[in-house]
Amino acid sequence: MRIYDIIEKKRDGFELSHEEISFFIRGFLNGEVHDYQAAALLMAIFIRKFNSRETSDLTEIMADSGDRIDLSDIPGIKVDKHSTGGVGDKTTLVIGPIVAACGVPVAKMSGRGLGHTGGTIDKLESIKGFRTSLTKEEFINNVKDIGIAIAGQTGNLVPADKKLYALRDVTATVNSIPLIASSIMSKKIASGADKILLDVKTGSGAFMKTFDDSVKLAREMVSIGSHMGRKTAAVITDMDIPLGFAIGNALEVKEAVATLQGKGPKDLEVVCFELAARMLELAEQGTIEQCRSLVVKKVQDGSALKKLGELTLKQGAVYVPWDVKALDNAVVTDKVLSPFEGYISSIQSELIGKASVILGAGREFKESTIDYSAGIILHKKTGDRVIKGELLAELHTSSREKLAEARDMLLGAYIASTVAPSLKSPILAYID
Ligand code: URA
Repeated sequence: MRIYDIIEKKRDGFELSHEEISFFIRGFLNGEVHDYQAAALLMAIFIRKFNSRETSDLTEIMADSGDRIDLSDIPGIKVDKHSTGGVGDKTTLVIGPIVAACGVPVAKMSGRGLGHTGGTIDKLESIKGFRTSLTKEEFINNVKDIGIAIAGQTGNLVPADKKLYALRDVTATVNSIPLIASSIMSKKIASGADKILLDVKTGSGAFMKTFDDSVKLAREMVSIGSHMGRKTAAVITDMDIPLGFAIGNALEVKEAVATLQGKGPKDLEVVCFELAARMLELAEQGTIEQCRSLVVKKVQDGSALKKLGELTLKQGAVYVPWDVKALDNAVVTDKVLSPFEGYISSIQSELIGKASVILGAGREFKESTIDYSAGIILHKKTGDRVIKGELLAELHTSSREKLAEARDMLLGAYIASTVAPSLKSPILAYID
């Protein structure tokens, strides 16, 4: 078998066999397939696509490329959740503690920021001392002790995804349904949960820009999970508008804390509560209505917030995240005032994400270090009325030189109109 022939076959639109996909992944991991050949094949897959059988084979081969975590020692039904990525998406910081406070074990492997989207691991690391790199034993023991652990991809978990992802990130091959589905599902299968809930984002701040593509992606992942014996369900949620008001790591932790204190933005609360309830339903905690009530109760009685505190202290932080000493504040802040008048009819959320990366909240290069205090607080979002000179957003950063470029990008993201747009619910569909 030769990688050249496999690239040529996919380039010409033919279906690849299990052996060919396996030859590619094995060769890529051991260095026999070079980056430029892998990049060519990724682009061929991006353009010619994979059918469901090919996507499912790729997922299984990737899941088997490294270790698998065995969670069977932890009593109860383990439910994992994964978001396809968005702007201001701090849902795991809210949902994880709620679900754990309800007595359902949360063993969560999360990722770092990617392109214009943020990542849970970067957000958690903005809490001083928080360790996201846990051994397999620590990970499992923490779940047994306090009901929750959130860690980054451990050493040898799906090494094929780590390597492929880095290449996709720089070869414009991220937003492909078979590549996203296999990347996410291989990690979920390898990290051992019994059931999987997917938060598939759709809209201008998501990788899938249209509702139809998001449904296709959700169906593909639900079908892969089910074929591999893991009950999988997906909620399609809106990402046309950034979630909440805060974008950037420490800023998002503060907003997640506010949400657990019952003082969070409405859209964030709606999405988090629904996803938490769906996780509880998958964990067989009752009907969806009973699970929704349980979520509200655990937030109102303070037990979900307490669980977030336990999680942060268990994973090395010295202060709980609502202590003023836990998070850094940006040294430079700047106000962006509205140059227009009218209603905000839409927001190009990807540009808001990119502006936060410019301010230091994400990585421009793989090696870039993150400025945890950097980011954006939005004061106006889609549907709001604004007058000239009114505050649109606040920029937070450590370096004044970044302000002008970020401000231009942020202003370019806002689209104004004389008529108020109609707003939709952030929960768009449920697929199981
Ligand atoms: N998240 C992932 O883990 N992989 C993708 O390809 C996209 C989002």
